[in-house]
Amino acid sequence: MQTREKLLELLESHRGTFFSGETIARTLSLSRSAIWKAVKALQNDGYAIAAVTNRGYCLLEQNDIISAQGIRKYLRPHLTGLDITILPTVSSTNTLLWERAGSGAPEGCFVLANEQTRGRGRCGRDFFSPSETGIYMSLLLRPENCMAEKALQITTMAAVAVCEAIDDVSDTEEKAQIKWVNDIYLHAKKVCGILTEGSLSLENGMLEYAVLGLGINIYPPKQNFPVELENLAGTLFQSQKDDVKNRLAAQFLNRFYDYYTCFASSNYIEEYRRRSLVIGKQVLLQSARQSKSGVVLDIDDQCRLLVRYEDGTEETCSSGEICVKGDCLCR
Ligand code: BTN
Repeated sequence: MQTREKLLELLESHRGTFFSGETIARTLSLSRSAIWKAVKALQNDGYAIAAVTNRGYCLLEQNDIISAQGIRKYLRPHLTGLDITILPTVSSTNTLLWERAGSGAPEGCFVLANEQTRGRGRCGRDFFSPSETGIYMSLLLRPENCMAEKALQITTMAAVAVCEAIDDVSDTEEKAQIKWVNDIYLHAKKVCGILTEGSLSLENGMLEYAVLGLGINIYPPKQNFPVELENLAGTLFQSQKDDVKNRLAAQFLNRFYDYYTCFASSNYIEEYRRRSLVIGKQVLLQSARQSKSGVVLDIDDQCRLLVRYEDGTEETCSSGEICVKGDCLCR
């Protein structure tokens, strides 16, 4: 580990606490001038580190910069060994991790970026991923004996996990909700999107690996959302909070792995239903084949949508997109 990384680990694990240069030098077996240089490097990267004569150095609470050290601090002990990569900018974390998966990267590789230049959304759409105001993250999964139909549930369990993580860090009583199948809403605006991409074995129809990608809008983008997203997209917060990004990423991993390690039991489905924005609502269901109005009766244990159409027929849908009638965004 480089000096900068070692120092960050120490300061991150004791935010708000002063350490003298001498104590840091002794703890990390480094010279005081090496430490001073590492402090300067961190400050140049945007970290607010107080340097006070006779007291030493202190990482201030208000920093909200994502780092592997900052995420690990909040991870449950069995997850601290995950391979975490943080990048300032990348074309797409899903694309990068997909390439790594093809070269044999193991389960649990986690890539997170502060900006994506070619963020990808569902149905071939772009995902707006501006610098510093959101987090864009992808997790590589290699579940054992996972049939293709079950793979849909990776996305839906991630939807529940990210809602719970948002509730953990958020400063509002309102709970995050899910618009089937995987859009996360807070205060009636979409704050997070999920894109899961998988590789199936043609021999046995099993999932070889999946790249689970999530983009979360944390703060308002510096140049606002593009016009086409203005009425749709929202953010978790309006102004800077202390250490939200690290906590959110870690809580997502903690919650997600709670469900993922019990994959067979589908123990998240009740919570998915509780957070559903669409059960009992009049919706327009759009698929590649058709666009049809109906009412959502329920969501089944495989996370499929049970819909009764206006002509009285019923269908169980495992894909497609819906918009809720009466919602100004439903065209
Ligand atoms: C959607 O709402 O259509 C899904 C958006 C998924 C965006 C995330 S951001 C991290 C990962 N990398 C991507 O290119 N896309 C996903």
